[in-house]
Amino acid sequence: MSGHRVAVVPGDGTGPEVIAEAVKVLKAAADVFGFSMEYGDLDLSGERYLRTGQTLTAGDLDFLQQHDAILFGAIGHPEVKPGILEQEVLLRLRRELDQYINLRPVKLHQGVVSPLAGVTAEDVDFVVVRENSEGLYSGEGEFTAKGSAFEVAVQKSVNTRFGVERCVRYAFELASSRPGRHLTLCGKTNVLTYAWDLWQRVFDEVSSDYPDVTTAYAHVDAACLWMVEDPARFDVIVTDNMFGDIITDLGAAIQGGLGIASGANLNPSGVSMFEPIGGTAPGFEGTGKINPLAAIGAAAMMLDFLGERAASQAIESAVGQVAGSLPSLRAGEMGSTTTEVGDRVAHLVSKEEPAEATR
Ligand code: IPM
Ligand code: MN
Repeated sequence: MSGHRVAVVPGDGTGPEVIAEAVKVLKAAADVFGFSMEYGDLDLSGERYLRTGQTLTAGDLDFLQQHDAILFGAIGHPEVKPGILEQEVLLRLRRELDQYINLRPVKLHQGVVSPLAGVTAEDVDFVVVRENSEGLYSGEGEFTAKGSAFEVAVQKSVNTRFGVERCVRYAFELASSRPGRHLTLCGKTNVLTYAWDLWQRVFDEVSSDYPDVTTAYAHVDAACLWMVEDPARFDVIVTDNMFGDIITDLGAAIQGGLGIASGANLNPSGVSMFEPIGGTAPGFEGTGKINPLAAIGAAAMMLDFLGERAASQAIESAVGQVAGSLPSLRAGEMGSTTTEVGDRVAHLVSKEEPAEATR
């Protein structure tokens, strides 16, 4: 029996509620598909920061490094100044664990109503590969004459050959493993002529190693237009950190909202972190109204990454079925509680035939 050690970080806000449902579904999957999972809890949260002044300690990092993967809820607190937890926990985790890929699938499940009129499940099924360690998120920059009328603030986008190439290669690998075999580079070559010159050159070079993958280029503004007007043209999109942040919120919207949007911060040869991308959902904590499907979907992505493909697919398909049966995926509009939605997914998964029996 394969065994996995997962660090569970529920965090703040609605994080703990949705993570509880994800763990419930993981337990159901472990029973049916015959793997074992050990869970180690870690408190990384705004609450802990207010209580202790700690954000992410060396001990926390050690703890995480001793696990195969991290299941993360959300972090953020109304009493903590914006920027502290984002910089000192989220961005630092990505850096320290070298999670250089942010993988965000955008899939409209059968029966889910997209805000885009006339768009069906066949039209929306792509994955965004967001570079997760550099670009405008590198923290490079400076103020000159801060506070004066002549103040200048410079925020630098750092793009290394190494960082761009490993991201682009990952995207080509992913594209060549999907039926569509199509990869779009999303950038801004016409204006940001240093960064995107490098990206374009690396993309073209790596492309010659993947003759089976067709390629396209879209400026980020046009990509936003097409995600709304013609999302079917996308299969895999590769882009930098900032553009990836922006277009994946748009992606979440067209697949039915943040209630269903899952993502992964990947270090393909290290400890990766899986999360619902919606954040803490202020105002919904403790109400039982938050949608746990994004967190459950993140758990499915985690199983895939851990090599439990059949279990991952069973959860993904159960998530799709439950999503398609809800009147809306938005918090408070599901017509079911958080626990009921989690129970329904767990129930569907537990009815699956075990892998051996279907062979
Ligand atoms: C995300 C979030 C983070 C980001 C913030 C909270 C630092 O928006 O995961 O998309 O910008 O990457
Ligand atoms: Mn974001």
